[in-house]
Amino acid sequence: MIKNIGIIGAGTMGSGIAQVASTAGCLVKLFDLNQEALDKAQTALEKITTRLVEKGRITIEEKNTIQQNISYVSSLKELATSDLTIEAIVENLDIKKKVFQELESYVSDRCIIASNTSSLSIASIASSLKNPERCIGLHFFNPAPLMKLVEVIPAIQTSSEVLAASQETIKSWKKVVAVAKDTPGFIVNRVARPFYGEALRMYEEGVADFATIDHAMKSVGGFKMGPFELMDFIGNDVNYTVTQTVFTAFYHDPRYTPSFTQKRFAEAGYLGRKSGKGFYDYSQAAVKPLPQDNPALLNTIFDRILVMLINEAADALFLNIASANDIDSAMTKGVNYPKGLLAWADEKGIDWCIEVLDRLYNEYHEARYRCSPLLRRMNAKNKTFF
Ligand code: NAI
Repeated sequence: MIKNIGIIGAGTMGSGIAQVASTAGCLVKLFDLNQEALDKAQTALEKITTRLVEKGRITIEEKNTIQQNISYVSSLKELATSDLTIEAIVENLDIKKKVFQELESYVSDRCIIASNTSSLSIASIASSLKNPERCIGLHFFNPAPLMKLVEVIPAIQTSSEVLAASQETIKSWKKVVAVAKDTPGFIVNRVARPFYGEALRMYEEGVADFATIDHAMKSVGGFKMGPFELMDFIGNDVNYTVTQTVFTAFYHDPRYTPSFTQKRFAEAGYLGRKSGKGFYDYSQAAVKPLPQDNPALLNTIFDRILVMLINEAADALFLNIASANDIDSAMTKGVNYPKGLLAWADEKGIDWCIEVLDRLYNEYHEARYRCSPLLRRMNAKNKTFF
């Protein structure tokens, strides 16, 4: 039974994960080198739980329990009694490795040592341990208490017992598990790339402006936010870095090529909401640009982004990155897509997907538009994903 949880790093993710674990009844020790981060995490939890009480989501007793279940510690040694530790510190392999080595010297042999990394390989992190079989990736989404998905990523070293116990624990925390292969971007950060990349590409080609592309994805596709609104929300610096990391990790596969437009926006300091200006202006006086309301154009934009997303999802299945169910639930539960992409492919027709992709490929002759072999094989046999 996994009851004692150690969390390393009390920033955005670590404090959110601590709340999730303590709400599920676990005893959490939240560690950070920086006392200010610990104080901030404690104050934020007080605010959040007070709001939950006001909204009637939890009782005062539950609020007290959630708070009492977490202790804020300033020494890694205090995590010695943990059954499971989850690391959420700065995204730097050397620093993570050092922390993992020190942690392993304190905890028992049974303790699972997990990382919440978004972009590093779990195999490389695990290699820092004497017992790498105990290491696994547990990738939460921001904000951790709200987003249902956790990608569970066994490294090639991870034991099947550690994988099973991790899945069981995450499910007991009322989260949805998607098991992903230890490959760049895991599921979500790989499959979601065309949502941004194809939108930026169409903008660069002059197909439409930001507002029209966003409007197409929302009005035709039912997405809650358009690509440019979402990039502004995530931050152009952060989103660009993820794209760049995935591109490099895939040995420069042209499908993941980053965009100069986004690079320039990041370089200019037009980071999005957090800097007051990104693809849109967030100042008080700003007038929101109106999209073009041309149904044919909106459908063309939506079809092109959707088919690129479907192709990415199909290719992830083709390469056994995850199961069809897990790929679809990752996108609906991790990034709130209105529908799973493989289910969407079934609905549109596999033949339709191939036709749109081949049309793009024939026009551009660029490898980014190559159709996944899986779609062709399925079409030849008249198969669907579900
Ligand atoms: P953050 O910057 O908000 O928090 C990091 C915390 O770690 C800081 O409080 C810092 O003081 C602490 N820290 C740094 N080095 C430390 C050390 N050696 N020992 C103890 N504490 C240390 O970062 P954030 O956004 O919470 O990200 C943490 C990890 O989670 C990264 O690996 C990131 O890739 C991953 N991640 C981030 C997501 C996000 O949307 N922010 C989503 C999913 C994963």
